[in-house]
Amino acid sequence: MKIFPIPILCLVLLCFCAAFTEAEYLKYKDPKQPLNVRIKDLMMRMTIEEKIGQMSQIERKLASPDILKKYFIGSVLSGGGSVPAPKASAESWVNMVNELQKGALSTRLGIPMIYGIDAVHGHNNVYNATIFPHNVGLGVTRDPELLKRIGAATALEVRATGIQYAFAPCIAVCRDPRWGRCYESYSEDHKIVQSMTEIIPGLQGDLPNNSRKGVPFVAGKTKVAACAKHFVGDGGTVKGIDENNTVIDYNGLLSIHMPAYLDSIRKGVATVMVSYSSWNGKKMHANYDLVTGFLKNKLKFRGFVISDWQGIDKITDPPHSNYSYSVQAGVLAGLDMVMLPENFTEFIDELTSQVKTNIIPMSRINDAVRRILRVKFVMGLFENPLADLSLKNQLGSQEHRELAREAVRKSLVLLKNGKRANEPLVPLPKKVPKILVAGSHADNLGNQCGGWTMEWQGVQGNDLTVGTTILSAVKKTVDPSTQVVYTKNPDSNFVRTNKFSYAIVVVGEVPYAETFGDSKNLSIIEPGPSTIKNVCGAVKCIVVVVSGRPVVMEPYVAHIDALVAAWLPGTEGQGVADVLFGDYGFIGKLARTWFRSVDQLPMNAGDLHYDPLFPFGNVIGSCLNYNIYIPICMHDKKVDAI
Ligand code: GLC
Repeated sequence: MKIFPIPILCLVLLCFCAAFTEAEYLKYKDPKQPLNVRIKDLMMRMTIEEKIGQMSQIERKLASPDILKKYFIGSVLSGGGSVPAPKASAESWVNMVNELQKGALSTRLGIPMIYGIDAVHGHNNVYNATIFPHNVGLGVTRDPELLKRIGAATALEVRATGIQYAFAPCIAVCRDPRWGRCYESYSEDHKIVQSMTEIIPGLQGDLPNNSRKGVPFVAGKTKVAACAKHFVGDGGTVKGIDENNTVIDYNGLLSIHMPAYLDSIRKGVATVMVSYSSWNGKKMHANYDLVTGFLKNKLKFRGFVISDWQGIDKITDPPHSNYSYSVQAGVLAGLDMVMLPENFTEFIDELTSQVKTNIIPMSRINDAVRRILRVKFVMGLFENPLADLSLKNQLGSQEHRELAREAVRKSLVLLKNGKRANEPLVPLPKKVPKILVAGSHADNLGNQCGGWTMEWQGVQGNDLTVGTTILSAVKKTVDPSTQVVYTKNPDSNFVRTNKFSYAIVVVGEVPYAETFGDSKNLSIIEPGPSTIKNVCGAVKCIVVVVSGRPVVMEPYVAHIDALVAAWLPGTEGQGVADVLFGDYGFIGKLARTWFRSVDQLPMNAGDLHYDPLFPFGNVIGSCLNYNIYIPICMHDKKVDAI
């Protein structure tokens, strides 16, 4: 038997120890290593299958720990209404997300997955979450600091359920209220939309001073990755037809629909979602010049670009009619992560094949994966991949509900106050013998929350979640001696014979989302118009409109004593009563033009022909116009300058 000299044995032993130590120490797992070192180290270890897995975001219903492990899936999402169980608790959400995460962590390299959800006006898929006013109302507040606080509250509620990624904010500039998603837009004015991007530091955290331009930033376990959407021009389609064609020259696209993306990137937004719509006939999901040329190369966006739900399928018409082309066009255009609610193995196989046959260069895959890993490293997902229950009391907390109530107050717009100038009806007196509350939206939490609430299309009625209807709020606010009578759609005889001091009529639109909300007539639903006629023809009345956008009101305005736009206020209806009864003043100013007739549309401030029923920036009800003593202008504990 050959005896090795001691030095050689020592060398072998040293190499073995070194190798063993090396196997233990993985540079990409070391948070002390610089970000780019971690990304580079991990990428050089990854196979093509692991890289393509990172680019795949699959819907919750398709996901399991085994699926995530087998296909190296990098992300999971909940589509609208996709919940672990009806009225699921924070615990069941956390358990679901953690179980899937363990599947991702059990892969060879243990890359954590990121879970995304549409938390677009609070954590709106989750029972008992605080539902804030939709963006159409928030734009009216013109209060970026409020938006930042809403973002922070939303991040806490999203993290309370174990989720780390919100597909918000929508920074569409809706230029035609016939668009079914106009309520997701802060304003027709890009400057208001730009200022509302302050919600991003609320969601993600404040960018550190030394941050490089365009680098994503998410400040740990109480913040979430945000998503500026839908890039670009989603709110400018012809006649507001959802997912359709935005016909505008380059200068118009850049001056109206692009500015809020510059603000979002400057604020460190982690992701950008591409729009279904087209620009001058070119599908945005296949638009290399805008997605890669402009967003990535010119604006230096260094987060990741995600498709919309089956966004690549819709590159072709009919959708999915040439999937090979869809995958090629979408990935080459610059999509980094692809939302796959159904055919995820088809996507993985197709992309793998196109990379292996060099139709899609590996450099494109590496760019996508580098961006995805950058977001995951920056937000600390490798260090804290699993959630706990430490934030569960944040869900629907009283503090957040008070914040939402404040947002409701600041989102209301007083459009008319009194049939004659010296006979204002608002503020409504609290102490009178008897008042009537009427209308399809007075006692309907689902209607006041609108779409994207518990279900994709929203839900009517009061059983969907925890909140305060406008009727309940009125009852809580009036003097105990005041009798409140509620009748959804009373006839005029009933109104006359009851001798009410005044009536509050709450009407509007039923919940809708996306294409289902596209409308050519923009009318409030029956029996709204007849309720207005029956009630306001018999007693002094204030009409509160609950809608996702301006709706047809001209035929009724002359018969109404006072008119308030409440938009889609969410769960905290108390904010409406706070202002109707004068505990706080009206400070909201229209962030959208209120048309006279749909035949005028599209019509936006600055247009040559501009003849609205109520103009953009309408200030009739603001404290600046009240000739009433100061208390009416007490809003949120501050007194407005008179
Ligand atoms: C939807 C919407 C998008 C949303 C996504 C995931 O179709 O266009 O805003 O984030 O799918 O639910």
